[in-house]
Amino acid sequence: MKQIKKNVRNIPCPCGSGLKYKKCCLIKKNGWVNAAALYQQKYNIRLKNQQDIEGIRRTGRLVVDTLDMIEKKIKAGVTTDELNTWVHEFTVKNSAIPAPLNYKGFPKSCCVSINEVICHGIPSQRLIKDGDIVNVDVTTILNNYYADANKTFLAGAVGSGGVKIVNVAYQCLRRGIAAVKPGNTLGDIGWAIQSYAEGEGCSVVRDFVGHGVGLDFHEAPEVPHYGKPSAGIPLTAGMVFTIEPMINLGVKELTILDDNWTAVTRDRKLSAQFEQTLVVTETGVESLTPY
Ligand code: MF3
Ligand code: CO
Ligand code: CO
Repeated sequence: MKQIKKNVRNIPCPCGSGLKYKKCCLIKKNGWVNAAALYQQKYNIRLKNQQDIEGIRRTGRLVVDTLDMIEKKIKAGVTTDELNTWVHEFTVKNSAIPAPLNYKGFPKSCCVSINEVICHGIPSQRLIKDGDIVNVDVTTILNNYYADANKTFLAGAVGSGGVKIVNVAYQCLRRGIAAVKPGNTLGDIGWAIQSYAEGEGCSVVRDFVGHGVGLDFHEAPEVPHYGKPSAGIPLTAGMVFTIEPMINLGVKELTILDDNWTAVTRDRKLSAQFEQTLVVTETGVESLTPY
């Protein structure tokens, strides 16, 4: 009897938190349920344990190394497919898998989104021109752990509109990250981004959002880059998600091209994006794709 009870207490928690049952759903005091069980049941969010976070951090370092490698290649005359090949080969050489390849039918190993392309640009024979703004989005799987990050690079002499939208998008990411701490909500992140972007006369894309990540490419929750202070799911330690604001110089609306992937601004004005994978800590936030 004693033996059986002890074994049950030590099994992995049925909620999938990765904790022992006795450290997770078995704990109930005065109706209080441990966060991993609560977030799983209420929001379908899988909180990550220390082992998960170490794995995602390791993948994240490789993603940042990949972006650093690709930054040196960005120049007029290079095709987006060449960038794709460099990302693919660098990833495989490092014993990892490019998550986009064959994801829901996506045919390449990364997304390359130039100028009016908001996101999900498919690498092709399109040539980078002097003055383009070029987003490269890298998602990598290493040892089953996913990390996701992107940057918008300047190719040569970029005009004032391009410089502005890239700077505003980067600042949106930084302000979003600064809003991440236990007790704040997803709405606080969205508000931090939206209020800054719109204050700069830019618009925030609504049709694509950040997302939980780590054990899969896209997990709960959705992380909108717009919102109201104190609204939405409260942040708690162990949540891992992306913030990836897509910021437009003109209208926020988009059009999906006939390839069923490429999202372009409806008015064909410039769009820029920066993305990182973050973990909520006891005291605030840590980037798992730090740049
Ligand atoms: N990396 C993108 C994101 O930030 C998703 C790309 S999906 C793909 O969520 F299929 F286009 F790769
Ligand atoms: Co993402
Ligand atoms: Co991404």
